[in-house]
Amino acid sequence: MLTVRSTIIIQFPKKTLWRTSELIALMAISTTLFLFIHTRDLSSKLKEMEVKMQPEDMVSANQISSGDSGPASYDMKAMMKMLQGTGGVTSLNPYELNNTRNAQQDVIFFNRVPKVGSQTFMELLRRLSIRNEFGFHQDRVQRVETIRLPPEDQLRLAALVSGYESPSVYIKHVCFTNFSEFGLPEPIYVNLVRDPVERVISWYYYIRAPWYYVERKLAFPDIPLPDPKWLKKDFETCVLSNDRECKYLKGETREGIGDHRRQSMFFCGHSEECTPFNTEGALQRAKMAVEKHYAVVGVLEDLNTTMTVLENYVPKFFKGASEIYWEEISRYNTINRNTFKPQVDEKVKDIVRQNFTKEIEFYEFCKQRLHKQLYALKLQKP
Ligand SMILES: *[C@@H]1O[C@H](CO)[C@@H](O)[C@H](O)[C@H]1NC(C)=O
Ligand SMILES: *[C@@H]1O[C@H](CO)[C@@H](O)[C@H](O)[C@H]1NC(C)=O
Ligand SMILES: *[C@@H]1O[C@H](CO)[C@@H](O)[C@H](O)[C@H]1NC(C)=O
Ligand SMILES: *[C@@H]1O[C@H](CO)[C@@H](O)[C@H](O)[C@H]1NC(C)=O
Repeated sequence: MLTVRSTIIIQFPKKTLWRTSELIALMAISTTLFLFIHTRDLSSKLKEMEVKMQPEDMVSANQISSGDSGPASYDMKAMMKMLQGTGGVTSLNPYELNNTRNAQQDVIFFNRVPKVGSQTFMELLRRLSIRNEFGFHQDRVQRVETIRLPPEDQLRLAALVSGYESPSVYIKHVCFTNFSEFGLPEPIYVNLVRDPVERVISWYYYIRAPWYYVERKLAFPDIPLPDPKWLKKDFETCVLSNDRECKYLKGETREGIGDHRRQSMFFCGHSEECTPFNTEGALQRAKMAVEKHYAVVGVLEDLNTTMTVLENYVPKFFKGASEIYWEEISRYNTINRNTFKPQVDEKVKDIVRQNFTKEIEFYEFCKQRLHKQLYALKLQKP
């Protein structure tokens, strides 16, 4: 299996990439260790989106626990009120909200989003794979990871995943890939989202944490060490001084520093329409993919609900998830905490939020859907 996976990686047009003047310019201008880079693939006329990933895509325990609110703290009245605005409570039926039953293969496709606690989630899945007896596969860590693929690579990926012995789980940083489009059996799509502004801040400090660039430097010695001035720049100053790195402009497709803005892109797919920041078209596509395909999109700030919904809607893989999470994994989260992340003023967050309207709408959409799924279970089991 490993060799098959490397083949796919080799297929990525890395050679073309390293030659692009854009990349060279970006590397020269900035010492940022994370870049979205775009280039033009002449043969396919598709823009490729490249993203540098790092092995330790971890999340802090603080970030998980601070916003955590599970069934214990659940306010039914508030929930009913919220759901009434989204199509009413009477239509809530676990069967109708269950995309797992549409899957045509017992393989989970988890296209994890960076900085959404997926390292923790991967550990959960790894442990569950032993307990519930399924295969565990993840994409190899790469220096530059392509998240937006041309159709031929989407097909190759879908074929690779469909080739795994079921039941299995496959994990990769990649945009939503529509298996049915290629005539391949529908997998069980699972993912997680997080408050989009918190996520951007988390990313901002993550790439500035000493262990991040030291480890990258060890893995890829030719990467230049970052400029100390850049390292010291805090998020608030970055936003308030109109720094390019912290400008979030509607419709912008610039792939550059800190372009970790578009969580929704991981759900929208590989289409060109998915690339402009904070646009209605990309938002609608992302929502549609979630509604049609995803079995569960969990919410990092609400892990208890996420676990309960996963356990009930994808039981074959997730039974016992809450227990493993709380008893075995949550303890280790402190190890991964980014102590270099300072508090960010709410006022600054609000400034950023004003430009993240579609991203916030997408996040709220996923949250409501998750709660609908939970509420449907409660209606079923009084
Ligand atoms: C989530 O569930 C765990 C285990 O059942 C519990 O200890 C914790 O208090 C819950 N958290 C919240 C915020 O409800
Ligand atoms: C938000 O968008 C407005 C309008 O496009 C722009 O002027 C402003 O600089 C942006 N602010 C941030 C923090 O990105
Ligand atoms: C995925 O592909 C199938 C088959 O072509 C199509 O019916 C479906 O609408 C696609 N899903 C999305 C979200 O585009
Ligand atoms: C959802 O569908 C899966 C697969 O058919 C099934 O195992 C699971 O029990 C269902 N969950 C709910 C809540 O209907």
